[in-house]
Amino acid sequence: MTDALLSLAVDLVRRAGALVVAGRASAGAEVTTKSTPTDVVTEMDRAAERLVVESLRTLRPGDGVLGEETGETWGTTGVRWVLDPIDGTVNYLYDLPAYAVSLAAEVDGIVAVGAVFNPASEELWTAIRGEGAWLGARRLRGSPVTSLDQALVATGFGYGTDRRRAQAVVVAALLPEIRDIRRFGAASLDLCSAAAGRVDAYFERGLKPWDLAAGGLIAVEAGLLVTGLSGAPAGEDLVLAAPPALHAALHGRLVALRADEGP
Ligand code: IPD
Repeated sequence: MTDALLSLAVDLVRRAGALVVAGRASAGAEVTTKSTPTDVVTEMDRAAERLVVESLRTLRPGDGVLGEETGETWGTTGVRWVLDPIDGTVNYLYDLPAYAVSLAAEVDGIVAVGAVFNPASEELWTAIRGEGAWLGARRLRGSPVTSLDQALVATGFGYGTDRRRAQAVVVAALLPEIRDIRRFGAASLDLCSAAAGRVDAYFERGLKPWDLAAGGLIAVEAGLLVTGLSGAPAGEDLVLAAPPALHAALHGRLVALRADEGP
């Protein structure tokens, strides 16, 4: 069953990605904001979500769907799809080629498959639980780096000013202790990049389920530990994705900096 779910996910992220790329030139025309004035949504976010949700309703009418733009519909099959139609909407708006369609399928509440497609680079990242993670045909195994002072660490920031102030304090403390920080602007791609060893680790506070579901599985299947802090599961308070050899050190610093607390 997971093979069929993944091939449907791949088909849908590719189709939504093609739509998103085709509409990019005019994407700036109809931009509205959500939680704050910097949290944007374009007409293409909505169109891509419609494409995926309507296809799922036709092909798998009993499944539930949680979409970033349209919210939740409940199903009866035990399968729930979790969709971010454009993760990295600000990059998309600026034509920075780091945005993605992210789609995962949960079975009985556990993410079973994930597909993340960056239509600007045409990179496709996939995973099936228990069967590994892939960038195209290449199996992913995370970074071999073991010491924090050598670690290139990706992170991201929320849209609210109070949260950003708190996140800036954490990054300011961490920056002198690591190789460098990267802020690419799409959480799903950050998780995939950590899975591929393009960065050594990733952490962020404030991720929503659609930011985390597919990329989180891809990181886990590449051998990374994907957790919250102090025994909490990865979630809105904090997501830390790091290879086992790096996880403890970064986790310790993030706990000391109380990176999962505050606004
Ligand atoms: C955002 C991006 C960004 C992350 C934010 C997310 P969106 O998703 O993933 O990198 O820092 O937390 O909300 O709004 O572009 O779908």
